[in-house]
Amino acid sequence: MNIVLLGSGTGSNAKAILEKQTQGLLGKARVTGIITDNPTARILTLGDSYHVPAIHIPSGPFKTKLTPEVEQTYVDHIRAWSADLVVLAGFMRVVKETLLNAFPGKIINLHPSLLPKYPGLHSVQRAFDAGEKECGCTVHYVNAVIDGGDIISQSRVRIEKEDTFTTLMEKVHAAEHTLLPEAIRKLSLEFR
Ligand code: GRF
Repeated sequence: MNIVLLGSGTGSNAKAILEKQTQGLLGKARVTGIITDNPTARILTLGDSYHVPAIHIPSGPFKTKLTPEVEQTYVDHIRAWSADLVVLAGFMRVVKETLLNAFPGKIINLHPSLLPKYPGLHSVQRAFDAGEKECGCTVHYVNAVIDGGDIISQSRVRIEKEDTFTTLMEKVHAAEHTLLPEAIRKLSLEFR
């Protein structure tokens, strides 16, 4: 099962996926490409380290989404890399019709909350500020509703009294680095 990763920033989750692949722990999944909307994103550097093509595609005039034309360029690259699954690993743009229609039911996202709680931005901060006893992360299918698609898997993180926002973020990231590769591994074993 070929997967293409889309990300906008650090790429720690993309790195976790590539590490599992290197260790032979990603089932039948194999990363065939990485795309970013951010020319300075660290995720780009993973391409060289893991011998995977990694490219920047300029994102167009909007901050939170891509134009249909830019989305079509994404589609063309994703198809050229024969993707069976598209994984949003810290991709900070809302995915619109051109991408959704090109890969129906084949785009998954990682979100740092226990959805349906705290969709959208700053989820960990909002859970922390609300005095929640737990938060976590979710892998879900992507549809036209932001962070609203069917849930694939979740990981819970307890919020302890001594936690600060920073320690909580570290715990959520650690949970993500296990959850997302494991979700991909399981999907790859079901893939025909
Ligand atoms: C993660 O916290 C993920 O849940 C969110 O964006 C962040 C990406 O981090 N969607 P990284 O770029 O993988 O380090």
